[in-house]
Amino acid sequence: MQIENSQPIGVFDSGIGGLTVLEQLIKIFPHENFYYVADQGYCPYGPRPAEYVCERVEKITRHMVNEGVKAIVIACNTASLRIASARAVTDIPVVSVIPPTCMRAVETTKNKKVAVLATQATINSGTYQNMLKENGVTPVPLACGEFVDFLENDDLDNPYAYKLVADKLASIKDEGFDTLIHACTHFSLLEPQMRAVLGDINYVNCGTPTGEYLKKYFDENNMATNATDKGRVRIFTTGEVDGALRTMRWFKAEHDPVAHVDIK
Ligand code: DGL
Repeated sequence: MQIENSQPIGVFDSGIGGLTVLEQLIKIFPHENFYYVADQGYCPYGPRPAEYVCERVEKITRHMVNEGVKAIVIACNTASLRIASARAVTDIPVVSVIPPTCMRAVETTKNKKVAVLATQATINSGTYQNMLKENGVTPVPLACGEFVDFLENDDLDNPYAYKLVADKLASIKDEGFDTLIHACTHFSLLEPQMRAVLGDINYVNCGTPTGEYLKKYFDENNMATNATDKGRVRIFTTGEVDGALRTMRWFKAEHDPVAHVDIK
């Protein structure tokens, strides 16, 4: 199948977390069209077995390819672990958030000690820890699945967020890391609460490094759109539209009305 540069970029996550990536992608690619899927009918991925996540990655990839995307960004670390399930069903470029994000932390830490906050599945995989160690950096891993539950179900301005974050970070806050990776795309939404506990250390989110990686890839492979007007952003949820709207109020980028999609 011939890929046209005007086709949209597919982006997906188990929920609203990937919108933190989409937000940065829209800034880096203002003229591109985006097709985002929040897989909220099947969220969370973090505590689920690998087979479950592989199946969701495969199904969403097939769906997006049928919708005519030219590339896919897996805006979810837990799903990025299963990138092979996407690549098995398509030849279009599929991008993981993990290597660009991890390498940004390697390049910016000064004291070579980096906290990795992620889902249980991402921590258990050891992917970030191994990549950091290979680059001479000591990882301080912490699984924080509770943050996903909070962000998918509560209002971001609920004052309980601070207590949730402070209690969780208590076990690592004196470890002396100068950099923290939001190794779950949901977590950068809690950065203000993290700053209140850990101060102004270096926080690395997935969106910017992944977007910069994709920009380089598009430039090298002549895949960027030629359009000069603002791109169209479509957002779908496999869950309830009302629930999605409530938990994504912080997302300010212009987009079509959020719609439900079945991906079975
Ligand atoms: N946002 C996802 C990530 O980056 C995970 C959330 C979940 O557990 O579904 O890993």
